[in-house]
Amino acid sequence: MSMPKKVTIVDVGPRDGLQAEPEVVTTATKIELINRLSAAGVPSVEAGAFVSPKWVPQMADATEVLAGIHRHSGTRYPVLVPNEKGLKRAVASDVEEIAIFGAASETFSQKNINCSIEESIERFRPVAAAAHAAGIHVRGYISCVLGCPYEGDVSAASVVRVARALDEMGCYEVSLGDTIGVGTPSRARDMVAAVSEAVPVERQALHFHDTYGQALANILACLELGVATVDAAVAGLGGCPYAPGASGNVASEDVVYMLDGMGIETGIDLGSLVDAGVFISGALGREPNSKVAQARIAKIP
Ligand code: HMG
Ligand code: MG
Repeated sequence: MSMPKKVTIVDVGPRDGLQAEPEVVTTATKIELINRLSAAGVPSVEAGAFVSPKWVPQMADATEVLAGIHRHSGTRYPVLVPNEKGLKRAVASDVEEIAIFGAASETFSQKNINCSIEESIERFRPVAAAAHAAGIHVRGYISCVLGCPYEGDVSAASVVRVARALDEMGCYEVSLGDTIGVGTPSRARDMVAAVSEAVPVERQALHFHDTYGQALANILACLELGVATVDAAVAGLGGCPYAPGASGNVASEDVVYMLDGMGIETGIDLGSLVDAGVFISGALGREPNSKVAQARIAKIP
């Protein structure tokens, strides 16, 4: 496979980016962020999570957020759903796409969704079936594909096993999460190559956190294998409440700048994306965690 000519960016900032923020982010701020991202041309904006508010209080207002956003016809608005209760809430919000989320590490699975990997697969099966019956697209996540905060190394075989299960449930895409950002390019490539035994690269997505500053390099290495979907968070927001020390996703601005420079199409207007990052960072009282945004703000040519 060769480098794709077009890459689909999934901006997970409003969900992954905000879920671990200690201070309450208002519903109005979340709505404005999502609207700014879709107006910037982001084709998929992860809009929230119908998870237990006891586990992740920051996502408790997902219903209100979904009701308040302006839904652009060219934008998808996936939401996380962990179980049947979450699916009911998502259906009531008239969503067109959900994401179920498993892990390649047993301990992370227990800490994040309070069940084993096997139990999670059994739990997701009816959720995916009911979603499909309702005409809702289902995306699948796998966390800890390149390392676990509790167990350390994670084998490619464990990732492939979960990828196969998600594929069998009809997930149209499997997003590979380097939850704690420990991967390096050759390991990322090897993992993607291993997963392609179960799910072809055209149906894989890269979801790399940037804790060790490797995310852009890892993304480039995997794009060279033909992967054409990248999850990223505007302003490099985020982290996972159940992955201690994990920092935000790779910044969307940095990915778009790299792809623009390589002549790879994203459909996103970089200036409007930077503005969206400045908006949310201002609301959180900090600078955007994106090199590109910082350079633009400082007017470095
Ligand atoms: P549990 O405690 O085992 O579940 O949690 P439960 O069924 O016993 O429910 C506990 C309480 O939550 C009950 O309330 C339920 O009704 C309620 P109570 O009876 O005590 O009043 N509840 C819900 N409420 C609203 N919506 C729901 C829901 N489900 C239960 N859907 C559960 C199990 C899966 C629910 C919980 O562990 C959970 O919500 N986990 C989500 C954790 C999470 O959101 N983590 C972050 C997202 S994953 C991530 O960031 C990684 C990713 O980015 C990829 C990567 O980077 O690797 C995707
Ligand atoms: Mg994540």
